[in-house]
Amino acid sequence: MTDQFKNYIDGNWLMAPSGKTFENRSPADRNDLIGVFPASGPAEVDAAVGAARGAFAGWRLVPAPKRGEILYRVGELLRKNKEEIARGMTREMGKVLKETRGDVQEGIDTAFYVAGEGRRLFGETTPAELPNKFAMSVRMPIGVCALITPWNFPMAIPTWKMFPALVCGNTVVLKPAEDTPLTAVKLVEILSEAGVPPGVVNLIHGRGEEVGAALVRHPQVQLVSFTGSATVGREIASACGQSLKRVSLELGGKNAQIVMDDGDIELAVEGALWGAFGTTGQRCTATSRLILHRQIAKKLTDMLVARARGLRIGDGLDESVDMGPLINEAAREKVLGYIDVGKREGARLLTGGAIYKSGSSANGFFFEPTIFDQVKPDMRIAQEEIFGPVLSILEVNSFEEAIEVLNSTAYGLSSSIYTQDVTRAFRAMRDIEAGITYINGPTIGAEVHLPFGGVKDTGNGHREAGTTVYDIFTEWKSVYVDYSGKLQKAQIDNAE
Ligand code: UN1
Repeated sequence: MTDQFKNYIDGNWLMAPSGKTFENRSPADRNDLIGVFPASGPAEVDAAVGAARGAFAGWRLVPAPKRGEILYRVGELLRKNKEEIARGMTREMGKVLKETRGDVQEGIDTAFYVAGEGRRLFGETTPAELPNKFAMSVRMPIGVCALITPWNFPMAIPTWKMFPALVCGNTVVLKPAEDTPLTAVKLVEILSEAGVPPGVVNLIHGRGEEVGAALVRHPQVQLVSFTGSATVGREIASACGQSLKRVSLELGGKNAQIVMDDGDIELAVEGALWGAFGTTGQRCTATSRLILHRQIAKKLTDMLVARARGLRIGDGLDESVDMGPLINEAAREKVLGYIDVGKREGARLLTGGAIYKSGSSANGFFFEPTIFDQVKPDMRIAQEEIFGPVLSILEVNSFEEAIEVLNSTAYGLSSSIYTQDVTRAFRAMRDIEAGITYINGPTIGAEVHLPFGGVKDTGNGHREAGTTVYDIFTEWKSVYVDYSGKLQKAQIDNAE
């Protein structure tokens, strides 16, 4: 019997009335059918948004500390179910267990961090310019938020968006990626068990072109929060521009790690290996460029290639495996396409570059860890997001050139520099164009209590996580209380 999963609307688990479904299969083994999920359309979106709109009236009045307490229970339930969720996640999207456990942990960390925020959500008080008048600013919820999330962090990213949205008093409709609907079901089951009232959280499965597009255009959706490609981000931004919806975008990256001649080479190799091939290179923070000072380039490259060749590829459920498959056929085609592009552009393929075939891997989308060197900054493989285990090595002659090369892409999410020189480290912190900079660490591994996001084409200026996420999910309201008992005119009374 195939497992049938459902949408969650107004506290009820429902099939799509059309009866249409789509399959969720493991990228490590296409014969492994995880279940079928409703292929929803505008009618289900309308029902979910209606439920969220209805629930907003009550939820916005629940005191924020109480909303936080529910999220605290969510954190405890996520912790209790961590292993089971991680296993389901590895099965549905392929990354190794160590990483899916980390992904659930990111959700747990977010739950506890945001739960505490229920007792902060600070505004400001400030003296008014007129006597017997009080002035303050407070945060207000926005309304119904549509959360459209990717498959590479199926727990962390929905929680980054949803928990802050909820603690602020908004209600949400979650549209998870089609490749990872199971993890979203687990999350929503936990929210419901923790006591989130009906309608406050709704879940609609389906394709971006149908469900995502209907959400973005729905007149009762006040805010769209999207993580995904820059191409889709642009479409969402223009639709939201037309309707003047609030929109927060976390888009691509072409992140680089610099290693200077004074950097710790062994540490830098460890960092590059983890940054480039962790999650099979499918993170928006993944290291896809390695910028090496000429003096250490050869030594570091040789060490890195040897280590990349030693990575164990296979089913992420096997604890001895280092790297799982790509997410789907389209991703593998895309990566293969870039291998061709790199070769044609004149980069030198040092290792990998092909579909990984061995024994049980035939039914999955496995790919070899791939390293190019002799890459020039203007090559497409140095400019475009590949979203796979492909690392481009660029050589430079100086610190200044390293920064210039790092900054020479359209994106600006994460960045890294390995150096022992404090002057260079501080200059890098100042001059690198990115939302995140690591000194002596890889480009991946952001923590949930710091702002997450990037500059340039990586987004539209918002930062998730940290204390900054509340600026996405609230509106500021300035409140003046005049207790003088007379009409007082700002800028006019008391003026010269
Ligand atoms: C992503 O790649 O979309 O910093 C998110 C990191 C993780 C989050 C990545 N904590 O790599």
